[in-house]
Amino acid sequence: MTRRWYLICLLSLVALPIRAISQETTSSRTDMNACILCHNSLDDDEMATPVSTWRRSVHRSEGVSCQDCHGGLPNSMVKENAHNPDAGYLGVLDSTVVPEVCGTCHQQQRENYVSSPHGIAGSFSPNCVDCHNDHEIVHPQVTRIAIPDKCNNCHEDSTLEEFIGLVTQALVPISDARQEVETLRPTGVSVDFIQAQVELAKNTYSSQVSHVFTFSTIKPQVKFLQMDFDEINKDITAVRDEVNTRRKFGWVIIVLLVFMAGIIWMYRKSLPDEE
Ligand code: HEC
Ligand code: HEC
Ligand code: HEC
Ligand code: HEC
Ligand code: HEC
Repeated sequence: MTRRWYLICLLSLVALPIRAISQETTSSRTDMNACILCHNSLDDDEMATPVSTWRRSVHRSEGVSCQDCHGGLPNSMVKENAHNPDAGYLGVLDSTVVPEVCGTCHQQQRENYVSSPHGIAGSFSPNCVDCHNDHEIVHPQVTRIAIPDKCNNCHEDSTLEEFIGLVTQALVPISDARQEVETLRPTGVSVDFIQAQVELAKNTYSSQVSHVFTFSTIKPQVKFLQMDFDEINKDITAVRDEVNTRRKFGWVIIVLLVFMAGIIWMYRKSLPDEE
């Protein structure tokens, strides 16, 4: 091996652990506060399990921790300080408080929810955590959330099937287009304008439909979204065609170059020897 190779190997040996350590510290920053340290060690299961369930949530990786929902002081190991109402400690959140607390960060969802049949039914039932869980909150999948035991106390199966069908009709084109953009990106053709259109269509749809839970509102919006995606998919096809043309063109050039190299080689061979 040359000296350059030794240097590269040595550098990567040093760089790997440094990377691992820096990743470790980013996750432990949200992972370690007094709420977590103390609750994790409590014998009472109900008081300890929120820590392990929260660890499996999207909130943990986004740095949303205990005090963001419950209030209180996350840097004191004295329970009375950590739980001090003057520090905003709210205790267990009841169903009227939940939409307010979640809504501090998820404003649009809260707005649509409070005027939906579920919000104005009076008792906020079902509320955010009935559908999404309290600690183990994950990326929502409509089929998982609308599982019958969460909804069929109040609804016929046919209502739920219709709901799942409608929302799926909207979510599938969104995720398909996002995937398509990611497959096309490495080819070097610009896909940013498509991505922007996808996100705009998605946000418009969400602001009108997410959590309104009223068929007469959802149906026309799903139609609009599908019309948007008819246009977006035309753009995607155009980009895909461009990629294919570039690829073919690339091959033609390679073949031409090889051909020319052959000609030059043959030409040089045909020259009389200089000696
Ligand atoms: C030194 C230990 C300790 C710390 C620190 C601590 N807790 Fe607690 N927490 C407890 C205990 C013990 C209980 C069980 C009820 C009790 O004894 O008050 C509890 C109960 C709770 C409850 C249930 C409702 C209630 O008040 O009983 C919530 C919610 C809660 N803690 C959230 C938090 C949050 C959020 C933090 C950080 C800001 C935190 N805790 C910090 C020990 C602690
Ligand atoms: C996204 C908001 C959110 C976060 C983050 C969160 N909680 Fe909670 N927690 C809730 C809600 C809402 C409830 C009320 C229970 C319900 O309605 O299901 C609750 C209930 C609790 C309870 C009472 C459980 C019971 O069975 O009585 C404890 C203890 C608790 N949380 C501790 C914690 C600790 C410790 C953390 C950090 C690891 C944490 N929570 C993070 C929203 C949150
Ligand atoms: C009746 C069940 C239900 C209730 C109640 C509910 N959600 Fe949802 N939530 C869903 C479903 C289903 C989805 C997935 C796709 C969709 O329909 O928008 C979702 C999606 C989400 C998303 C992902 C982004 C989006 O809008 O699609 C967030 C964030 C969210 N909910 C937060 C909340 C908050 C905050 C509350 C309370 C104010 C709440 N949810 C109440 C069922 C519910
Ligand atoms: C301190 C701010 C904050 C609070 C409070 C909060 N969240 Fe979140 N939540 C976030 C962030 C940040 C994300 C990740 C980015 C995103 O997807 O919006 C997230 C993600 C989510 C997601 C997944 C969204 C997706 O598209 O995958 C759901 C569902 C959700 N939160 C529901 C809730 C519920 C229910 C509550 C109340 C119990 C709550 N959140 C309280 C900040 C918060
Ligand atoms: C505590 C009772 C309750 C629960 C649980 C509940 N809902 Fe509802 N929901 C209602 C009420 C009340 C209405 C308004 C009257 C109606 O249309 O049935 C409604 C309306 C709806 C509508 C609109 C129906 C229409 O004709 O426009 C949909 C869709 C819906 N709910 C879906 C769900 C889903 C999905 C779940 C589970 C994630 C759920 N609901 C859980 C009480 C509930």
